[in-house]
Amino acid sequence: MSTPLEGTTAVVTGASSGIGEATARALASAGARVALLARRRDRLESLAGELGDRAVAYEVDVTDDEAVANTVEEVVRDLGGVDVLVNNAGYGSMTPAAEADLAEWRRMVDVNVGGVLGTTHAALPHLVKAAEGARGIADVVTISSVAGRKVAFPAANVYAATKHAVGAFSEALRQELAGRHVRVGLVEPGLVRSELTEDNGAAQDAESSMELGLMEAEDIADAVVYMVTRPRRAAVNEMLVRPTGQTR
Ligand SMILES: NC(=O)c1ccc[n+]([C@@H]2O[C@H](COP(=O)([O-])OP(=O)(O)OC[C@H]3O[C@@H](n4cnc5c(N)ncnc54)[C@H](OP(=O)(O)O)[C@@H]3O)[C@@H](O)[C@H]2O)c1
Repeated sequence: MSTPLEGTTAVVTGASSGIGEATARALASAGARVALLARRRDRLESLAGELGDRAVAYEVDVTDDEAVANTVEEVVRDLGGVDVLVNNAGYGSMTPAAEADLAEWRRMVDVNVGGVLGTTHAALPHLVKAAEGARGIADVVTISSVAGRKVAFPAANVYAATKHAVGAFSEALRQELAGRHVRVGLVEPGLVRSELTEDNGAAQDAESSMELGLMEAEDIADAVVYMVTRPRRAAVNEMLVRPTGQTR
């Protein structure tokens, strides 16, 4: 098996389920040591047990800036640095504005935007240091969404706003860090089968309207691994990946 990420450390937020869990597995298969971050310790420990010396579990809420900063320092002490950061932790609730719960809106902003900012801020000095080291490159990949490119339906309201926000932040960071050899990219999935889409009903709706069904989390994990294993001279800045049957 090819292990292009041998010797590197990857931090994956939201590694306890769905796209984050699949991405952690895929990065470990590609040779990385993976720091698994999320709130559900039992899920993280079970994945870490499966991945053996390739993974370590860290229980943290990405909306808690101080806890995130402490966790990133712990990862650096345990695993030696940060070569790859995957900002994946996210939350989505799709309700028309007139019926929405304001606390749900704030939760999406706190997790999808606040979590990306806190984790990126904490990891940044380590990513720059990694890019100055022997490998000469480091990566930040943020899992945005088709909803980060366009508002496909009104109930996407705040979810789409959070994903547009991380897109803008990511592009600014890309411009700032290009000369320092830290690549910054976005993966923009369409509908993926996960707890998120099962919980908000999107999976069930899509399943009945798309002959080939939704994507699996592994389809997005493949995109992340592709991005972070390019030669140093090539930076894949954006990947929009939809189920074949998804029209919007
Ligand atoms: N599924 C889709 O169709 C789809 C499409 C486009 C984009 N996305 C994006 O893909 C990402 C992953 O979603 P998913 O579909 O894989 O959903 P998921 O299975 O529900 O996974 C969400 C992950 O985020 C973590 N998380 C949520 N709040 C957190 C917090 N406050 N602190 C730390 N971790 C937190 C959860 O872990 P804990 O609960 O253990 O903390 C979980 O591991 C999200 O950013 C989502 O917006 C998904």
